[in-house]
Amino acid sequence: MTYTIIATAAMGLEALVAKEVKELGYSPRTENGKVYFEGDATAIARCNMWLRTADRVKIVAAEFYAKTFDELFEKTKAIEWEQFLPKDASFPVQGKSVKSTLFSVSDCQAIVKKAIAERLKHVYKMEAWLPETGAHFPLEVALLKDKVTITIDASGAGLHKRGYRVGQGEAPIKETLAAALIQLTNWYPDKPFVDPFCGSGTIPIEAALIGQNIAPGFNRDFVSEQWAWIGDNVWNDVRTEAEDKANYDQPLDIEGFDIDSNMISIANSNAFEAGLGDLINFRVRDVTQFETDKEYGVIVGNPPYGERLSDRPAVEKLYADMGYKFKSLDTWSIYMLTSHEQFEEVYGKPATKKRKLFNGFIRCDYYQYWGKRPPRRSESE
Ligand SMILES: C[S@@+](CC[C@H](N)C(=O)[O-])C[C@H]1O[C@@H](n2cnc3c(N)ncnc32)[C@H](O)[C@@H]1O
Repeated sequence: MTYTIIATAAMGLEALVAKEVKELGYSPRTENGKVYFEGDATAIARCNMWLRTADRVKIVAAEFYAKTFDELFEKTKAIEWEQFLPKDASFPVQGKSVKSTLFSVSDCQAIVKKAIAERLKHVYKMEAWLPETGAHFPLEVALLKDKVTITIDASGAGLHKRGYRVGQGEAPIKETLAAALIQLTNWYPDKPFVDPFCGSGTIPIEAALIGQNIAPGFNRDFVSEQWAWIGDNVWNDVRTEAEDKANYDQPLDIEGFDIDSNMISIANSNAFEAGLGDLINFRVRDVTQFETDKEYGVIVGNPPYGERLSDRPAVEKLYADMGYKFKSLDTWSIYMLTSHEQFEEVYGKPATKKRKLFNGFIRCDYYQYWGKRPPRRSESE
């Protein structure tokens, strides 16, 4: 059976999610910020397991137009819900409505819930109520310009929840965004990697997962593991594939620094939880003390942004000091995510490239400074 699947993406990350979907062997198309593709039950499990930059994996159960509650009810009831939902399914319905005639979200939710319940009672020949004691199927009814899309969330907790975060600081970056920042660099696992503002360690941990090709979902559960029509065999195969593809022998040179010793102990705990404790070198260090004699490395940082006006002078001094310190690293590529609009002026160098990204609701730029390329090996070597 083939399903229409959506990988949802944070604003600005759609192209990266689509690229990941393609690398898994599916054919993505992006519409309204969502990455759509067709796939079977294995695709649902594999995408949950492997997508590093997507928020969630959802299945499109129904798509139709509705301008009246009657239409919404009848068209929802006509869907073969029994294909997805067993007799005892629990199916909470969330909703949203944008630019649509039916704008009362709570009414839309209630109508969809009632229509599905009626359908299931009829098909399963249940006279009274549905027990809703079984597997969980989180549904969403979304209306956009009168087009109704009903989806089933196959992830459960958002995919950024990898299962390793035992501690966090004040402003941790989402794991999905951290993975995206790394994927936007020219890093390969044989190059040195440094996060000079590592906080709770998210960016170095995501780099290590990428470096050893460890599936981001390997240490967590997904709601769709409860669904009989996907089945244990599919999940077992997908977990076996993840185990087979992990390259635990890949040596890595990944370091994370932070000025705050509490952050370094949190980063270490998170890395140990991820099973990467021995692989990443976390140390207390002020960025202005950064020294290295390595070459062709990659620096990825999520420094303080100075969002509060009172913090601005200190942050600007930090950026200026960092620019001075990194000046001599001409073989290194440096990538900084910040919302500070004058970053380049303060840092002292125009970026090779900028990319607009959102850290939560904060609009940021990802400033990219490309280092020199390593010399090509001559043919006689
Ligand atoms: C936005 S947070 C980074 C969050 C991190 N990406 C995470 O996922 O937890 C910025 C970090 O920069 C650190 N920091 C501030 N000034 C610093 C400096 N001069 N040198 C090194 N780290 C500094 C802070 O302690 C804080 O942990």
